[in-house]
This record gives sequence, structure tokens and C-alpha cells, in this order.
Amino acid sequence: MTTSTAEIGVIGGSGFYSFLDDLDEVQVETPYGPTSDPIALGTVAGRRVAFVPRHGRDHRHPPHKIPYQANLWALRSLGVRQVLAPSAVGSLTPAHGPGTLAVPDQLVDRTHGRDQTYYDDGGAVHVSFADPYCPLGRQTALDAAHKSDWQPVDGGTLVVIEGPRFSTRAESQWYAAQGWTLVGMTGHPEAILARELALCYTPLCLVTDLDAGITEGEGVTMDEVFRVFAENVDRLRSLVTTVVGALPSDRACPCPHSLDGMNLPFRLP
Ligand code: ADE
Repeated sequence: MTTSTAEIGVIGGSGFYSFLDDLDEVQVETPYGPTSDPIALGTVAGRRVAFVPRHGRDHRHPPHKIPYQANLWALRSLGVRQVLAPSAVGSLTPAHGPGTLAVPDQLVDRTHGRDQTYYDDGGAVHVSFADPYCPLGRQTALDAAHKSDWQPVDGGTLVVIEGPRFSTRAESQWYAAQGWTLVGMTGHPEAILARELALCYTPLCLVTDLDAGITEGEGVTMDEVFRVFAENVDRLRSLVTTVVGALPSDRACPCPHSLDGMNLPFRLP
């Protein structure tokens, strides 16, 4: 049995491999195998935080092989109830180029074959997912960004592709034509697994590129994504620190009630 040691979880994206200085590391056993890396625990802005780099510190887990179930399960078992999820994304909107911070409010799943539920057997559990992100977490993130000099894009739709390749120009133009605004590879199933554990989940999307259909040229490259992320990672870390300090701990949002009245096949960790 794991003792409760953190209240806020941060899942770092490509290039966001560290967050806590004064930390302990724990390896949490889960029914879903090991987490992406040992989880770092520490105190940030007076709050207990658990940090896991989504891809592993050496970026060894590609997006379609990240142990999403283990990561969320482990965070919850450490006491985490609110999750902040920074990630690198492409933009489908010409006006929102590299360096833009976006806090989407919708998600479209274009992945396939990923384990996307904890409720695979033992009875049906259908959680609501109409609004995939925590409204309080989003507002806190937007307020924090406004207060810094990083004006965020409020809302929009993140389409999550299977990857690991980037989109073709035609795919990208099709996504944009649907009205979707951002494209990434890791937002699903992370958000739904958080909801299935009644956690708050807030995306913090850093635009690293204009996606292939939005701009002429060679198309998106991994170098470009990592370079732009590296250029902005200090700012992103500082924003996450502010959001950690500002997140209301009373959780007056619908997220804690996601599983109310449901007959769960197991006890939540
Ligand atoms: N992550 C960063 N940029 C991306 C893009 N253009 N498509 C998918 N995932 C990304």
C-alpha cells in the first residue's frame, strides 16, 4: 500500500523532463506495470507535487507506447487528485504559431489501439466526457498565464493522432477544416484515464510548429519540435509552478463526482 504523499500531479511532455529540485523518487507498483519513469515527489509553491516525465527522461517511450494507465494510476495512489499536463503540440491555426500557449477545451481522438479504459471487464462503467478537461484547472491556468506576460489561447480542439509520424498535408488540412485547432499525440488516452479515476486534468499545450497543411515548406520535423520546446521550457516550467500554487484545493468542479453512483469493479487506489 502506497502512502499519500502528493496532491498535484504534473506529467511533463517532450523536453519537460524535470520539475522538482528537492525531490524523492518512488517507483510505484501498479496493476498496469511500471510508470514511464520513477515518480519524483517534492514541494512546489507550498504544495506537494508528484512529477512524471511522460516519455521518460531519455524520451524512450513513443506516444503510442506510453504507459498511460500506469502513470495515472500511480499518481492517484500517491494521493494526487489534480493533474497538470504540459505537452508539445502542432497548431492548425496560422495565427497561433510556435511559442503560443493554448489551453484547449475539447479533444478529438484519432488514435487507435491504445488501452483507453480501466473498466475493461467486471461490469460497464460509462463516464461522461462531454467536457474532457477540468473547468477550474483550465481557468486557473488561463489566469496564471494572463498574469505572466504569456497571453494564452483560451479553448479550441486538440486532435490526438496515433503517431509516431506527423500528419500528411492532406490530413492536416482536413483537421483544420473540421475546425480543430491543435494536433498532438499524447492527449488521448491521458485525459479520459484521468476522468475514469475522478481526477482533475488540465492540458497546457505549447505550440512548437505550424502543422504540415497550414504552412508551406518541408513539413514538421522532430528537430523543430524539440528546439522550440527547449526555447520555451523555462517559461512553461515557471507557469506550471504558478498554476500549482494557485490551484484551488477544494475541487469545486464536477471532476471528483465523475464516478458517483457507478458500480466499480475495483476500489480506486
Ligand atoms: N507535437 C508537436 N507538434 C506536433 C504536430 N505537428 N503533430 C503532432 N504532434 C505534435
